[in-house]
Amino acid sequence: MAKVAFIGLGVMGYPMAGHLAAKGHEVNVYNRTNTKAEAWVQEHGGKSATTPRVASEGAEIVFCCVGNDDDLRSVVLGDDGIFAGMSADTILVDHTTASADVARELDAIAREKSIHFIDAPVSGGQAGAENGVLTVMCGGEQAAFDRIKPVADCFSRAVTLMGPVGSGQLTKMVNQIAIAGLVQGLSEAMNFGQKANLDMGKVIDVISKGAAGSWQMENRGSTMCQGEFKFGFAVDWMRKDLGICFEESKRNGARLPVTHLVDQFYAQVQGRGGNRWDTSSLVHLLQND
Ligand SMILES: NC(=O)c1ccc[n+]([C@@H]2O[C@H](COP(=O)([O-])OP(=O)(O)OC[C@H]3O[C@@H](n4cnc5c(N)ncnc54)[C@H](OP(=O)(O)O)[C@@H]3O)[C@@H](O)[C@H]2O)c1
Repeated sequence: MAKVAFIGLGVMGYPMAGHLAAKGHEVNVYNRTNTKAEAWVQEHGGKSATTPRVASEGAEIVFCCVGNDDDLRSVVLGDDGIFAGMSADTILVDHTTASADVARELDAIAREKSIHFIDAPVSGGQAGAENGVLTVMCGGEQAAFDRIKPVADCFSRAVTLMGPVGSGQLTKMVNQIAIAGLVQGLSEAMNFGQKANLDMGKVIDVISKGAAGSWQMENRGSTMCQGEFKFGFAVDWMRKDLGICFEESKRNGARLPVTHLVDQFYAQVQGRGGNRWDTSSLVHLLQND
């Protein structure tokens, strides 16, 4: 069993850290809003710390899951940051969905301190985190990956090394690009079926078993038809992730015409107050023209 720290007890981090404690790891936690850290300790044991630095002291592996690049820098760097508390040959595993750039930037700083860094964004959402079945896409060195994998397995179905630092974030970008276009296509299909007065439950049941089937259709098709969006993966997070994809595409030259269009649709959903709605709320624009 390892001595670990978990920084950032949000929708994702709270249950991920919980699985580490449930499997017997010694877990120190830090959360900016301290009441969440106290609630976590009440539920799972372990200790809460007043700064990321204190939480990370003595940990073999530090896990982190905050919002975006700037949030990540603010918990990792500085006198009270994670790096200030970590000792040589320990490993920082970052589960934030962030840019490949910030991963490389933090890796370079980590190397100066003989610390290992692994970017490790996740897929699977809140339910995946709560049920301990996340997919984790990692970038980093094999030796460090081999040390963290058995620990990250506590909250994951698959933990895979994709390549050098940044490769986890790049893989997550591929994931988000694939989802954006697919959800718009699914929205148009669901709205078309409703306008045609079909029994959409039956339609989803039949076509989800064929070539049009997808995770989104199986898990979101019926809630889309019912106009239910107050759950799941928030539009604000998706726009943050697509922004990261657009920055990266400027560097690698990949064209993203449909993704740009869908991003504009998501901006319209935000304009209708849907910031925290699930990404399947694209259909709302079609249903409520
Ligand atoms: N939710 C999902 O379905 C999902 C799925 C896949 C990936 N992700 C990614 O996972 C990451 C976390 O998502 P989440 O849903 O857990 O978000 P969340 O519920 O909003 O939690 C964010 C966490 O980061 C902390 N935080 C944010 N900014 C901070 C700062 N500047 N300094 C210190 N702490 C800070 C928050 O602390 P406070 O409690 O004090 O606000 C909170 O613990 C994001 O990058 C997201 O894109 C989310």
